[in-house]
Amino acid sequence: MYSQALDGKVAVKSESMDFLEEFQKRIDAEEKIEPMDAMPAGYRKTLVRQISQHAHSEIVGMLPEGNWITRAPSLRRKIALLAKVQDECGHGLYLYAAAETLGVSREEMTEDLLEGRAKYSSIFNYPTLSWADIGAIGWLVDSAAIMNQIPLCRCSYGPYARAMVRICKEESFHQRQGFEIMLALCRGTDRQREMAQDALNRWWWPSLMMFGPPDSESRHSDQSMTWKIKRFSNDSLRRKFIDATVKQAEFLGLDVPDPDLKWDPDLNGGEGGFRHGAIDWEEFRRVISGFGPMAKERLAARRKAWEDGAWVREAARAHAAKTRSANRRDSAVSS
Ligand code: 3HC
Repeated sequence: MYSQALDGKVAVKSESMDFLEEFQKRIDAEEKIEPMDAMPAGYRKTLVRQISQHAHSEIVGMLPEGNWITRAPSLRRKIALLAKVQDECGHGLYLYAAAETLGVSREEMTEDLLEGRAKYSSIFNYPTLSWADIGAIGWLVDSAAIMNQIPLCRCSYGPYARAMVRICKEESFHQRQGFEIMLALCRGTDRQREMAQDALNRWWWPSLMMFGPPDSESRHSDQSMTWKIKRFSNDSLRRKFIDATVKQAEFLGLDVPDPDLKWDPDLNGGEGGFRHGAIDWEEFRRVISGFGPMAKERLAARRKAWEDGAWVREAARAHAAKTRSANRRDSAVSS
C-alpha cells in the first residue's frame, strides 16, 4: 500500500514555535497530514506507538480465535471464523504499512513487541474456553473495536485514517458474526444459554478495559486529541459502548455482570445513559504490564512465527538485491 521509500524521517524540521503553530493550524483546519509532510517529532512518535500497538493487536488477536477454527460447530461457522481471522491478518498488514510511512520498519516494530517495549491490546491476554467465547469476542470485542475505531477514520494522519475506513467495514461483519453466534446460543438449550452467559461474564469487564485507562490516568489523550489523532476520550467511548451493548444483552436475554449498572435519565444531556460499577484497574495494569493470563503464550506464539519466518525474509531480501542489480546492469547496457 505504501512504499518504504517514503521514509518519514526526512520530513522532520526544527520545531520552532512558528512551525508548531503552523502545524496545529493545519490540524485545526482538518487537513490530512501525509508521510512526506513536516510534522513534530512527538506527533510522529505518538502515531508510531499507537499504530504499531494497533497492528500488533490485530495480529495477536488472531490467536485466541484461530485455535477455534478446527472446532467450529459447523462448516458455515468455520468458513465465517476463517474469514474473520484472515481479515484480522489483513488489518495488521495495512496498519504495519501505515506505520512504515512514518519511517519505522516492520522489523523494528516486531522486535519492540517481542522485547516488551511495545504493547498489544489487553483483551487478547484472556483465554477462549468455549465456543461461546468466539461469539462473545465478535459481539463485545469487535463492537468495542468499532466504537473506538470509527473515529480513527477521521484521524489527522492520512495513511492511518484511510486504512481505518476499510478495517471498520470488515469489523462490522465481525461484530454481526459474533452477535449471531450469541443469538443462536441464547435461543438454544439451557446448556447453550449458560455457555453464552458464562462467556459474557468473563468478557464483559476486559472489553470495558479495551478503551484504555480512565481519562484521569490517560497520559496521551489530551495531546492526541489536540492533534486529532484521537477524537474522543477513553471514558466517553467506553460509555457509548455500554449504552449500546446493554440493550443488546437485554435482547439476548443475558445479564450484564455488573450489579451497579443503572440507567440514569440525566446523563448525556438528558438523553439518558448507564452508570456502571467500578472497573478493576489493578487487573488492567497487571495485564498491560505483561502479566495477563495468556501473556506468555501469546508472545511465545509471535516469537515462534517471527523466528520460523526468518528464512522467508532472508529470501525476499536476496531476491530484491538480485532484482536491483539486474536492473542496474540493464540500465548500464541501454545507456
Ligand atoms: N491494552 C493495552 N495497552 C493499553 C490499552 C489496552 N486496552 N489501553 C491503553 N493502553 C496503554 C497505552 O498504550 C499507554 O501505554 P504507553 O504509554 O506505554 O504506550 C497507556 O496504556 C496509557 O493509555 P492512554 O489512554 O494514555 O493511551 P492512548 O491515548 O494511546 O489510548 C487507546 C489507548 C484508546 C487503546 C488508543 O491507543 C487507540 O485508540 N488505539 C487504536 C485502537 C487499538 O489499538 N485497538 C486495539 C484493539 S484492536 C482489535 O480490537 C482487533 C479487532 O480485530 C478486534
